[in-house]
Amino acid sequence: MDKISVMFTQDQISSRIDDIAARISEDYKGRDLLLLCVLSGAFMFSADLMRRIDNENMEICFIRAKSYVGTESSGNVAIHGLDKSIKGRNVLIAEDIIDTGRTLKELTGRLLSLGAESVKTAVLLDKPGRRAVEMQADYCCFEIEDKFVVGCGLDCDEKYRGLPYVGYIAE
Ligand code: IMP
Ligand code: MG
Repeated sequence: MDKISVMFTQDQISSRIDDIAARISEDYKGRDLLLLCVLSGAFMFSADLMRRIDNENMEICFIRAKSYVGTESSGNVAIHGLDKSIKGRNVLIAEDIIDTGRTLKELTGRLLSLGAESVKTAVLLDKPGRRAVEMQADYCCFEIEDKFVVGCGLDCDEKYRGLPYVGYIAE
């Protein structure tokens, strides 16, 4: 059994998601918004975000992206499952965490090449010290140091996604 130390509590997370949802509501005022949830990690963050964003034209869709095995990034990103037309849409990608940046960079490029009107990114967590490609999230709840984190959708080999807080596995 791993020992997990709390990094951000449920209340801290909720309050930061309130903040970015308010900014997103303002930034997309009068425009359609397609929230694109990157499964599996972003399922909880997307739900939290969606119920707070005020936009009557908002839709959601889901894709899968996988780059990690255990606690190591494999370096290449597999993306599948996009079943909505992206052409002309204002897409907001919801991701659990930006780490090397490969997933969001790859995905942003693909959505633009499919004809998206705009593509922005929202993340629960950002590990800026780990970036391997040039990529920044447009909306971010917390910047963190280089620790492997779990909870609120984030897993370690599929465990701990359901924790209501973000924690790190103590050495
Ligand atoms: P990137 O492509 O390297 O930016 O990685 C993004 C993906 O790696 C995220 O969607 C997560 O699934 C996974 N990931 C990166 N860091 C962590 C972590 O600390 N805990 C759990 N998953 C992580
Ligand atoms: Mg993920």
